[in-house]
Amino acid sequence: MADIVPTVLVGLYGWDTKDFIIGPHERPFDDNGDGTIDRNDQRALEAEVGAEHPRVTTVSAAGGKWEVVADLSAWADLIADGTAKRVEIAVMPELQDADAVVLALDAPSRTFDLGANEFADDFYSPIVKVTDGCETCHDALATNYHSPDRGGNIVVCRLCHITKSGGSHLEMQSRSIDSYVHAIHSFQAFDIGDINFAEPVEALHYEHHIGFPYPTHGITDCESCHTPGTNNVPDQSKSLPGLLSASDAVESWDRKIGDVPEYVTGPASRACGGCHRAVMIKEDEAGELTLFNLHTKQGGYLVEGGEDAGATLGTVIDEMMAIFK
Ligand code: HEC
Ligand code: HEC
Ligand code: HEC
Ligand code: HEC
Repeated sequence: MADIVPTVLVGLYGWDTKDFIIGPHERPFDDNGDGTIDRNDQRALEAEVGAEHPRVTTVSAAGGKWEVVADLSAWADLIADGTAKRVEIAVMPELQDADAVVLALDAPSRTFDLGANEFADDFYSPIVKVTDGCETCHDALATNYHSPDRGGNIVVCRLCHITKSGGSHLEMQSRSIDSYVHAIHSFQAFDIGDINFAEPVEALHYEHHIGFPYPTHGITDCESCHTPGTNNVPDQSKSLPGLLSASDAVESWDRKIGDVPEYVTGPASRACGGCHRAVMIKEDEAGELTLFNLHTKQGGYLVEGGEDAGATLGTVIDEMMAIFK
């Protein structure tokens, strides 16, 4: 315990949804005052214990106990007008062994109700099962692409994988964890624009990837991951609108899917489309993809991101959530 170096994260839930209107991993401010918001500025509310951070201060750290203060005053207006009623507080517990190998430890988190000034652990019950779900196939989560101190808890994935970011390694998806996990297990390939389809070995590798079957003989085995009853069309009052990335430019292959713009869309389009779009992308079914997007537009909404997709998303979030206030 004493050797753990924790990173603390605090995310502000939007309204009564399970999604974050302010993600801890975002960089919302020009913290260093150089006139731009970039990698040299700090995360909103994410800091390693002991590190200098404008909003997260370490009070004490000794013998496996830590006291940390997070200053939320930058979002006082969101808290006052009821946009942010709850926060999720999480810890990524980094621990290295004698060989400097980071051990796979679960990242715990708890929900805190700001108005009631107490923990609200029954706020949102788990959508997926990690121990009897993900871990029937994965020994630990997030080890191939992150460090293994982020596992055990999909809410911690969701803290960073917010609906406000489009996917970057996965085209036409959201970085939101529902979209990412569905698309990955439908075997949509990462970074398709970097594949040289004129090179036979690269093209064959791509074919192998997209043809891989989900190990329980079908991705429609929803309960291999889900707790029963959590895989229906999401309640619009419990999940925020989100952003889907544009299509990648694929130079070396004359594919039928053309330029698809960034889209702002709803939680069903994002979660269900995580799989359904992936299938159409893999089969290069441009017509079906257009029809699918039209279908989600008719049953919900699908708005082109335009010049400033973040601003468009902000407008849609405000309009949608006003319905549920
Ligand atoms: C039935 C088996 C199975 C279950 C259950 C499962 N996965 Fe997977 N997962 C896989 C396979 C197979 C891959 C593909 C590995 C590859 O492409 O090399 C994968 C890949 C991934 C990847 C991408 C890894 C990478 O670096 O490419 C992530 C992230 C992931 N899974 C997360 C999860 C999460 C989160 C859950 C639970 C909600 C879960 N998985 C449940 C079998 C499973
Ligand atoms: C501290 C923040 C944070 C946490 C916690 C986190 N991620 Fe990520 N993750 C990111 C960021 C940022 C990226 C980069 C996104 C990009 O480049 O598209 C990323 C990328 C990924 C990718 C894409 C792989 C790649 O090569 O970029 C997968 C898959 C992924 N995360 C899965 C997970 C899963 C599953 C969890 C929970 C077990 C998790 N992440 C927890 C921030 C986080
Ligand atoms: C490989 C694991 C995996 C499989 C298989 C899977 N899901 Fe999911 N699903 C997830 C994850 C992870 C999330 C996000 C959970 C979270 O945010 O806590 C999710 C979220 C969802 C959501 C959004 C729930 C909400 O409240 O917003 C829906 C809807 C959904 N899944 C439907 C399905 C359906 C339908 C199937 C089967 C056809 C399915 N899923 C199969 C991993 C999976
Ligand atoms: C985990 C991946 C996954 C998710 C998430 C998912 N689906 Fe599917 N869905 C599939 C697959 C794969 C099929 C095709 C099954 C087959 O043909 O055997 C399918 C089939 C369907 C069909 C029948 C379509 C037809 O042409 O027969 C409908 C309707 C459908 N899904 C709706 C939804 C809705 C609504 C959601 C979200 C609540 C959803 N799906 C989420 C994978 C998924």
